[in-house]
Amino acid sequence: MNVSIPKAVEILKSGDPVAFPTETVYGLGADAWNPDAIGKVFEVKGRPSDNPLIVHIASRDSVDDFAAKIPQAATKLMEACWPGPLTLIFKKKPEVLDLITAGLDTVALRWPNHALAQELIFRAGPLVAPSANKSGRPSPTKASHVTEDFGDEFPVIDGGYTQIGLESTVLDVSKLPLCIYRPGYIGKEKIEQITGAEVVLQNESSASTDQEVRSPGTKYSHYTPEATVRWLNDGESLNQKNALYLIHSSTADAGDYTIHYQKNYQQMAMELYDRFRQADHQRLDEVVIEPFDASIKKEYPIIEALLNRISKAIG
Ligand code: TXA
Ligand code: MG
Repeated sequence: MNVSIPKAVEILKSGDPVAFPTETVYGLGADAWNPDAIGKVFEVKGRPSDNPLIVHIASRDSVDDFAAKIPQAATKLMEACWPGPLTLIFKKKPEVLDLITAGLDTVALRWPNHALAQELIFRAGPLVAPSANKSGRPSPTKASHVTEDFGDEFPVIDGGYTQIGLESTVLDVSKLPLCIYRPGYIGKEKIEQITGAEVVLQNESSASTDQEVRSPGTKYSHYTPEATVRWLNDGESLNQKNALYLIHSSTADAGDYTIHYQKNYQQMAMELYDRFRQADHQRLDEVVIEPFDASIKKEYPIIEALLNRISKAIG
């Protein structure tokens, strides 16, 4: 059910969750200082309670209400990238609710670059907001995805398609080296340029126990459609009727079930989750994706994030 900002503020203040758009994906918002409201977020999503939430803020001053210490690298990143698709992990203040942080000594903060999100937070205060999907479903990139997962009666502020389409970069700035737990629109190289510091990408397959504990979200399988997602084989033709083909570089062999992105990787990122959902609506057996050539990653940083989400969907 589409709701206005004033209505959404009323719902949030009464302790219930509301879905709202950001520049990445839709979030399931609840008052960050109300434990009952936050409890409902976990319940509605079916989210394990040991997976912490991001607190969404709409001013630089709000950081000081949650973060105990602001390292120099974080100051530079906030200046350069906020509001924007970058979540920063800080040592937390003692008063931050354990429910948000899943008992960790850190808290994740993000200032979204979306007018509706900003107005909502400005009026209702800081909001915890996981992606507004049921656990194990692709993140919502339009309002109808939210109602698909939570029902027509669920309140959502409709902001149309989200521009970026993949969740924010999650970067731990609470220790060195700076560590990316989840790649996103803001890539490793950009973060290194801004901070002048070394940045490591958490490699999930070789994650140390310490990293696993520090970013519990990475251990859950996310983003999984019903259809089987797989990479296109070398020389394979695109002619299976019950499959959707996502092709980004080559233009050859256009079948009826082929989407060509012509190197528009941002468009591909924006549409990816919607394509997964459509494949399920059409009861397709497979989503087949052209593999990425490692050499183009530098030119298009979003590819790191695409690779990460597609790999998770492949499982
Ligand atoms: O783009 C986004 O970040 C979206 C929009 C709505 O802002 N939100 C989002 O939230 O993707 P969620 O809950 O689906 O993903 C949050 C990720 C999870 O992987 C979680 O484990 C991690 O951030 N996270 C949150 N707090 C953390 C912490 N203190 N330490 C390590 N990882 C944390
Ligand atoms: Mg999520």
